[in-house]
Amino acid sequence: MDTILILDFGSQTTQLIGRRIRDLGVRSTIIAGDRRLDDATLSDVKGIILSGSPASVADDDAPRPDPRIYHCGVPILGICYGLQRLVAELGGRVEVSVAREYGRSRQRYRTAHPLFHGVPDGFVSWMSHGDSIRQLPDGATLVTESEHGLPGCVAFAQHSMVGIQFHPEVTHCEYGDAILENFAIRICGARRQWTVEHYLQQQGAQIRKQVGSAPVLLLISGGVDSTVTAALLLQTLDPQQVHLMYVDTGLMRDGESEEVARGLRALGARHLYLIDAEQRFLSRLAGVDDPEQKRERIGDTFIEVQQEEVKRHIDGDYFLAQGTLYTDLIESGRGVGAKAKVIKSHHNVRSPLVEARRAAGRIVEPLAGLYKDEVRRLGTLLGVAPEIVDRHPFPGPGLAVRILGEVTKDKCDILRAVDDIYISQLRARGLYADIWQAFSVLLPVRSTGVTGDARGYGYVAALRAVVSRDGMTADVFAFPPQDLLEISALITNRVPQVGRVVYDVSSKPPATIEWE
Ligand code: XMP
Repeated sequence: MDTILILDFGSQTTQLIGRRIRDLGVRSTIIAGDRRLDDATLSDVKGIILSGSPASVADDDAPRPDPRIYHCGVPILGICYGLQRLVAELGGRVEVSVAREYGRSRQRYRTAHPLFHGVPDGFVSWMSHGDSIRQLPDGATLVTESEHGLPGCVAFAQHSMVGIQFHPEVTHCEYGDAILENFAIRICGARRQWTVEHYLQQQGAQIRKQVGSAPVLLLISGGVDSTVTAALLLQTLDPQQVHLMYVDTGLMRDGESEEVARGLRALGARHLYLIDAEQRFLSRLAGVDDPEQKRERIGDTFIEVQQEEVKRHIDGDYFLAQGTLYTDLIESGRGVGAKAKVIKSHHNVRSPLVEARRAAGRIVEPLAGLYKDEVRRLGTLLGVAPEIVDRHPFPGPGLAVRILGEVTKDKCDILRAVDDIYISQLRARGLYADIWQAFSVLLPVRSTGVTGDARGYGYVAALRAVVSRDGMTADVFAFPPQDLLEISALITNRVPQVGRVVYDVSSKPPATIEWE
């Protein structure tokens, strides 16, 4: 199948490049940027993209691609560090920039290039670089220049080799998709052969081969990821092999556990274990207010409960399946190239116990190559109910990372009541589907209020609603003010412990979507 090979030098957005290429219907493969390339890796490759990097080409230990890329006869696109790498390797000069460029910058054409077919002069690009090009290699031409007078795109004398200083993969770059499409389809001639159906077939075959007839245990969180993983396992394997375990941590939303169980039975689950572990989780969280420590304790408690329970239900060895996504991996610094910075340790990736299963080759992660909206498409294909497929993402540690500071049962109950009103109002007002993720957060502060003649001293609840394509970046949802005011009034009227409601107006970056 025609493939675009992406060499990952550790940029936070490398996975987005792969994702955008797949959105075009073209298969993309991401490998470590400095890996040696053999014939098998290059076999269906129609083009190569060099990613950005936190490294600088000036560093001695900065990663370099296998020189074979220059001789295998396929077009190359360098992005940011990728461009600088090409410039440095081909005899040009890269230096720390006088004018650093971060964020928006308009590009002006100096000459035409097929990479910009259909892209108007002055388009807004998205920059994030400290180094820039001081001197082009022999025979290279400047294709665009940024509004700050720095090279934006360079075409090299060598066969179809081009580089851009900006990031076409981020949503804020105008015509970013068109630029990547021009590269993959127009310049490389790759055919659109990638589909979710194909992914399902490929994963199905791989899982059958990996697990044989051994039992597979899947921990269900209640979110779309684990439900789609369950559906995939139930369809790919003998349902008798598939053991589904749902641990009620006490950190779930109102009515969630019952809804999850109904959904799984409808998908044909035969072995479904529902475990009430609220007491245990809450006692492990007592006195803990650091978010990473919360995640670690929850992750470890999950695994402890699982290990105890599994002995009761499964004989002998088993595989552990997880609904891990691409985004979970990169944001935990485990992305290909292993240089992405750690932002939050998503518990399903970093827990030492999971690492041990991983090291033993006993982990099945069938969604690890997919982004959230691809998982939704796969879910629909597998017959998962639309209300589950369209559900906003919910983090593994649940309400624990939405209660800032120490987590207690009382606070969970308050937040459940708030969130139930918020989410059911979003559905009733037809706003739910316009939002990528909405939730409420309980702040560890009290604020003065007045109810009737009495002075109150209630909690502050924050409402969050963001729009996003994949959770990697997010914008604030432009909430219709009247709806926001009415929902806020419902919350303070119906939840007596909450005296004040605020709306979070921060985008990601610089904030993250969750508050912890
Ligand atoms: P952030 O807050 O990192 O969130 O911008 C991006 C997406 O990831 C979810 N998230 C988590 N999911 N375990 C999870 O399974 C976690 O620890 C975790 N932290 C954040 C978040 O809800 C959003 O969809």
